[in-house]
Amino acid sequence: MSLCLVANWKLNGSKEFNHQWALEFFKNFNGQNFSSIGIAPASIYIDHLKKVIADKSIKIGAQNIDLVETGPRTGEISASMIKDLGCEFSIIGHSERRILFHETNQIICHKLIQANNNFVVPILCVGESMQEKQDNTTFKVIEQQIIGALKDASELSAIIIAYEPVWAIGSGKIPNPKEINSMHEMIKDVVQSRFPKIGLESVLYGGSVNLENASCLFEQKNIDGALIGGSSLDGKEFALIANVFNDLRV
Ligand code: 13P
Repeated sequence: MSLCLVANWKLNGSKEFNHQWALEFFKNFNGQNFSSIGIAPASIYIDHLKKVIADKSIKIGAQNIDLVETGPRTGEISASMIKDLGCEFSIIGHSERRILFHETNQIICHKLIQANNNFVVPILCVGESMQEKQDNTTFKVIEQQIIGALKDASELSAIIIAYEPVWAIGSGKIPNPKEINSMHEMIKDVVQSRFPKIGLESVLYGGSVNLENASCLFEQKNIDGALIGGSSLDGKEFALIANVFNDLRV
């Protein structure tokens, strides 16, 4: 089963955090389907988290990879390295990386290819800014981000797209779930019509997902799951969100 709920822990965590999180998560999660759940810790904790999660089939991934395989690039981590640690996916092109680390569509495209070459499923993030939303250019912006990232990577065997409006991230605000649903439908249309050789597995929503808004999001047909930041740091809340998803969708 494709990933449905992915925790993006961003710049948070420690070995102790991994243990506490797992304790809370397993105490509160009442589903069986671990393989639809993913966690992206800081890369330095991937190995430790894998050991803490032990035999459960929860997928572990990275928050970012480098755009090349090897070379004089101090501080970078490649797709083959995360694969070596047992990662099955990587978030790519998160808006925080686009904004803070100046990642362009071109760079993101190279990263998608690296992921694909190493059998790591990329979770490509797209999303409009508040200004773009106010200018009514959301559809166009998202379409351009998708085309810009995929045009030179048109044969990816698998990809997940996460629609994350920049203004919804960490703000407590979310778009109307019906609008998210239409956006996801549009994303699926764009990928399937323009890039028929790309295997789009699912379209997740990200931005201020929490236990309160989870059910109205997961009731929408085209919202295949969620990429969750803040609320995923609490093992109990993440488990309860996963229970809501299971009740509605599995
Ligand atoms: P929040 O859930 O904290 O809004 O973050 C969303 C996000 O950026 C996930 O990648």
